[in-house]
Amino acid sequence: MRELSQPAFDMRRLAGLDSMMVERTRDAIAGWTDGDVRNVEREMARLTVGIIVEAMFGADLGEARTRRVQENLEPLGRRFEPDPIRFLLPDWLPTPETRSYRSSIRELEAVIDGIVAERRGEEGEDLLAILLRAERSGAIPEERVRDELMTMLLAGHDTTALSLTYTWFLLSEHPEVERRFHEELDTVLGGASPTAAEARKLDYTNRVLTEAMRLYPPVYTLFRETVTPMDLAGYDVPAGSLLMLPQWGVHRDPRWYDDPEEFDPDRWLPERAEKRHRFAYFPFGGGSRSCIGRQFSLLEATLILATVGREYRLERVGEGPLDLRPSLTMHPADGMAMRVHRR
Ligand code: HEM
Repeated sequence: MRELSQPAFDMRRLAGLDSMMVERTRDAIAGWTDGDVRNVEREMARLTVGIIVEAMFGADLGEARTRRVQENLEPLGRRFEPDPIRFLLPDWLPTPETRSYRSSIRELEAVIDGIVAERRGEEGEDLLAILLRAERSGAIPEERVRDELMTMLLAGHDTTALSLTYTWFLLSEHPEVERRFHEELDTVLGGASPTAAEARKLDYTNRVLTEAMRLYPPVYTLFRETVTPMDLAGYDVPAGSLLMLPQWGVHRDPRWYDDPEEFDPDRWLPERAEKRHRFAYFPFGGGSRSCIGRQFSLLEATLILATVGREYRLERVGEGPLDLRPSLTMHPADGMAMRVHRR
């Protein structure tokens, strides 16, 4: 399946998505006025849903359907919150939560089926066009198209939205970093909209994003099951063991990072980063199942940061450490209220 989807993530194709990403960001902030308080987590999620759907499904959801998708994605995440009582209940028990989970899945499937129906017979290079060609040639069954789209929708928006949310939060808490970020935008972009080529030149912005995903990796742990007995750094691990690979812990481990709790984008300067262990940092996983959307999301996040950062400074409303809520991904417990200031 991965080989089939790969062309949709080709670097050249991705670079051609830059103006769509920037335009959608500009639309998203068109309604902002100086001094507004916005739930930035929600706004980033709405924006990334629109971008993933247009980039991968070749469709424009419009406002009502985007809201429907976003509202139904939330109960899916909630189902994965660690809850000792729920873990003891069987899956078939019709608790209110299970009912809302099932109804959300049905709603999302209905939206996806609508998009597939609209696109059938059309050509294109996006993921949906690739899947529909494979379905026509008999390479994959019809349900597979829907499953793949659902996976992309789930994997491809919330993660990027969270990496942006935490970046805005950290910028707001570190005025000197924020100043350098704005200075770079002004120098490299010179007042124009960013392109994919310019996104690559925004070195400091990229270090800020990298460092934000170190401290707040949206996917905070991975799970693996061993299929054969193995020796793991001196531990005997039998077959069938469940292993956790926690980014959250490794990314804050003093063995790999000086002052690990400190937000310091310059720790990603090449001369400081090159000596570090390759897997001291793995927000996108690693190995053969690593994130297929990595380049996509890095380009998207950089363009969004640059487009918003050119015009606005975001200031957190509230203080003290963030309250967090782990579910499938790590969320701020109460969204992210921020006051937007025109620069
Ligand atoms: C900051 C943004 C993102 C983060 C932190 C992230 C993180 C991850 C991680 C850690 C994995 C590996 C899961 C595992 O090994 O169990 C993964 C897999 C995956 N991601 Fe992402 N992701 C991001 C953005 C995206 C985007 C934008 C897309 C789609 C356009 C995407 C699609 C996928 C898919 C399809 C897989 C499964 C790959 C496979 O199993 O072969 N991700 N992601």
